[in-house]
Amino acid sequence: MNIHNNFTKKQAVEKIASFPTVRPRRLRTSPQIRAMVRETRLDPGDLIYPLFVTHGTGVKTEISSMPGVFNLSPDMLAEEIHSIAELDIPAVVLFGIPATKDPIGLENFSEDGIIQQATRMIKKYNPEMVVITDVCLCEYTDHGHCGILNVGEHKRPNVHLPEGYVLNDETLEILTKVAISHAAAGADIVAPSGMMDGMVVAIRAGLDSVGYEHLPILSYSTKYASGFYGPFREAAQGAPKSGDRRSHQMDPANIREALRETALDVAEGADMLMVKPALAYLDVIRAVHESFSELPLVAYNVSGEYSMLKAAAAQGWLDEERVALEILTGIRRAGADMIITYHAKDAARWLQNA
Ligand code: PBG
Repeated sequence: MNIHNNFTKKQAVEKIASFPTVRPRRLRTSPQIRAMVRETRLDPGDLIYPLFVTHGTGVKTEISSMPGVFNLSPDMLAEEIHSIAELDIPAVVLFGIPATKDPIGLENFSEDGIIQQATRMIKKYNPEMVVITDVCLCEYTDHGHCGILNVGEHKRPNVHLPEGYVLNDETLEILTKVAISHAAAGADIVAPSGMMDGMVVAIRAGLDSVGYEHLPILSYSTKYASGFYGPFREAAQGAPKSGDRRSHQMDPANIREALRETALDVAEGADMLMVKPALAYLDVIRAVHESFSELPLVAYNVSGEYSMLKAAAAQGWLDEERVALEILTGIRRAGADMIITYHAKDAARWLQNA
């Protein structure tokens, strides 16, 4: 005889799943029990730290809108990489400030470019530190745009396109050169961030053609035209001289388009995906995570998200440690496997001391 005959699971649920029998607070009684039932964990190993590298020696200039974040010259990287590794943060993403800018950003793919120098330095100091390089034109072009513009000598002949339009396929050729140049300097992962159509397939083909078929591509697959990049543009000196980036970065109102962009990048061979920014786009992180769960997903907790919290904390309005960890946990909970964040070092320290 089935002893459950008169007490089915459904009845059990109906019977006991309510107060006063059920009390969720029981699992919140002690820090130990709370830790046992914690669903989302944050670990320094999930974090990626952005670094801004600039020419010169002995340079360590704080970015005024990003307290605690610096422009560093290559010689200053030894100490920085040491402290990042000590905190068990596995990777950095590099942004470079070139010595000179021009219409196509020549330093971006020069053997002695700032990123190439910095990458070689970091791999010399610590071969295990994963070096991710940002592959885009905006920091390197004199006009500050992410690609070659439809103006002057670069104007596409016999085609009606707006003056100053960012030329897609012409830009892909440069991006490919940049990725190959970063790979040759020792980068472990290249991360195209310009939202050009076909950027992943172009870079993949370029890398493969010269023997870098093993090098992963982290695609900024869903990148919005966001006001939250403001402080970054001060840090990397990459603000557009005129106009904006809405002809290539996504409209903040769109989520179906995020899935389309992601599907295209997956088809083109992206190894890792990204959603950027993070905080105002947690639903997008969740949607990409659910639809493309087979690929690692990175979220970029961008400059403006960092600066907002720094400013409020400086006023004494928010508890920086508590809120930063809450934000990072929220981004992980939404579905991100890894987070690029300017809070990486602080967060790792707080987690170690917790
Ligand atoms: C492009 C790039 C940008 C950021 C990362 N890569 C700037 C932009 O698209 O305008 C922004 C990151 C941040 O705000 O922290 N090279």
